[in-house]
Amino acid sequence: MKRAEGKLLHRPLCLGNWKMNKSPQEARAFCQELKSLLEEAQTSHAASAAIGASDKTAKSSATQPLAQMVLLPPALTLWAVAESLQGTEIAYGGQNCHFEISGAFTGENSPKVLQEVGAQYCLVGHSERRKLFHETNDLCAQKLKALIELGLTPILCVGESLEERQSGRTEALVLEQLREGLKLAKGDGRFKTPGTQGSATPQGQAVPGGGFPLIVAYEPVWAIGTGQVATVEQVGEVHQLLRQELDQLLGSELSQNIPLVYGGSVKPENGAELLAIPAVDGFLIGGASLDAKSFFALAQLGF
Ligand code: 13P
Repeated sequence: MKRAEGKLLHRPLCLGNWKMNKSPQEARAFCQELKSLLEEAQTSHAASAAIGASDKTAKSSATQPLAQMVLLPPALTLWAVAESLQGTEIAYGGQNCHFEISGAFTGENSPKVLQEVGAQYCLVGHSERRKLFHETNDLCAQKLKALIELGLTPILCVGESLEERQSGRTEALVLEQLREGLKLAKGDGRFKTPGTQGSATPQGQAVPGGGFPLIVAYEPVWAIGTGQVATVEQVGEVHQLLRQELDQLLGSELSQNIPLVYGGSVKPENGAELLAIPAVDGFLIGGASLDAKSFFALAQLGF
């Protein structure tokens, strides 16, 4: 994957973090609606491509380009999502996992089980986990390493609180979260672009949508669930900083395969502006990912 104008030459990513929302039944209904929206969009795109094709100058594709969609449901809902998304291009993953494969860790979820259910991604160090469940950078580093060893793509979340921003500590904080999160995986030979062969649905089919060694999500804590989106300048600045640090830490060859996504009150209304920022390769969406129409509208942006 090469970079152009600060962006990855990959379709944008649309990651939906459902947090502690949606039962298996609700998730099935969501996936059904999302699949219908996808089908409708493909049908109408194919119809307009056919009209375009009769015009000799038109060069249209029969498939509408969309962002790579990834759903991140709560653990108990994951299996229902896995089954519902069978045979689609939509990938899925976990919101959290332990760093050990198995053992006496009551209440925890094994990354190996995530893999077995066909997950290709897992969030690491979401600000809610850092703040409410006291997750440290050290713990994040262990989880990130465990995921990489299994060939899953960690989505490492970084971001500052309002107080940290106001006291001018944003830069130092996000860089520390990035460096510390990567410290155990960096230099590991397995930390490279993984193939998709390691992932399979419960029915054993390969799942599309993987292939990143890592995703980094910048989520300013003060923008999460508040309706207050970071400005284009604020997002641009931090993303550029993260990109430079990734280049330095991992080398540009590996870094250029690592998407940087923004999260914090992303909605269909503000998505286009955010996606236009250089070095923004997609979104990590909370509230707006709970509604299939909003989530799908965001996946259609950027094309
Ligand atoms: P909102 O989109 O609801 O602000 O949540 C962002 C988030 O925390 C995604 O991980």
